[in-house]
Amino acid sequence: MTDENRIERIGILTGGGDCPGLNAVIRAVAKAAMHQHGLEVWGIEDGFLGLIRNRMRILERDDVSNILTRGGTILGTSNTANPSRFVVGIDEQGKPVTEDVTQRVVEHIAERRLDLIVCVGGDGTMSGAAGLIQHGVRCIGVPKTIDNDLMHTEITFGFLTAVNTATEALDRIHTTASSHHRVMLVEIMGRNAGWLTLTSGLASGADVILIPEIPYSLDAICDYCMNRSKRGKSFTIIAVSEGAKPVGGQQTVDRVVAGSPDPIRLGGISNVLCKQIEAATRLECRATILGHVQRGGTPVPADRVLGTLFGHKALELALAGRFNEIVVSQSGRITSVPIESVAGQQRLVPLDHPLIAAARSVGTSFGDEL
Ligand code: F6P
Repeated sequence: MTDENRIERIGILTGGGDCPGLNAVIRAVAKAAMHQHGLEVWGIEDGFLGLIRNRMRILERDDVSNILTRGGTILGTSNTANPSRFVVGIDEQGKPVTEDVTQRVVEHIAERRLDLIVCVGGDGTMSGAAGLIQHGVRCIGVPKTIDNDLMHTEITFGFLTAVNTATEALDRIHTTASSHHRVMLVEIMGRNAGWLTLTSGLASGADVILIPEIPYSLDAICDYCMNRSKRGKSFTIIAVSEGAKPVGGQQTVDRVVAGSPDPIRLGGISNVLCKQIEAATRLECRATILGHVQRGGTPVPADRVLGTLFGHKALELALAGRFNEIVVSQSGRITSVPIESVAGQQRLVPLDHPLIAAARSVGTSFGDEL
């Protein structure tokens, strides 16, 4: 490695929505960096906000010990702090006023003499990292999200824990649905991607799975519920993505978050559908929105392992001078691609995906056939 690529001090931040497994990455990067390679590791607080406000601290041995099984992130996170569009106020019309504070971030990094920043996050965080790279900051990306929608990686840590949580919830809904003979809708996160709903829906044997990639027909869903009822099946479980939408219609927006790289927050489609299905079929319906429970809690073993593998690879890239790349998993192999190639992109469920075919083959409806 050339002298200019030698690193002594690294910063690490977790950006965007949290997910189980973030602490496993921080631990893997920091422990090896400190103990095996004698590097100084700085924990940056609350994602890019810590870089903007100059809030960071040296991580000590004890800071990264005993955190493998802990959910959330010991560093904190922010999904609104974007250096190139940082919200500094609200104008008279109530619109956010933004400023490009990237230069301030670059100065804070130079002040602490950080040689590179490990950015653990989703597509929004990688867009932020890509902006810093353009200003000469060296970054290494590590992909996280319960949505599993990052480009070029077949899996992100956090996803399998969320699948577990959503599946357990669907299983619980199953028993009460059966006692009360109801149509039960369970709304699952995932933004514009249906991975979480599809996987947990399949795992729990949901009767109907509605994902953003396959727009639904209300008539098809109602017919399916009525046919089940006629066949003596007194209840129906519908796993619905927060991003599901009717054919020719729109997604249901819950709120708009100023300053966020992706300001739209989806939510509420299960309540809309609940009323529509009840009115059309006269079957009793109830909706449950799982919400942030899907992001919390202890990571499942697979996510602890994946977080550790990703963290290990991130440090390996840093030590090899392979800057501005993001760790990815491709065909079971941990490798890397340029950060720019994943920034601001989304990996949606392909319509010919085997999970969809398998679900259809056991009689699951995607609300698209009449
Ligand atoms: O990207 C992770 C995620 O949990 C999405 O599934 C969800 O749409 C969004 O974040 C919710 O964001 P927030 O925490 O800002 O409500």
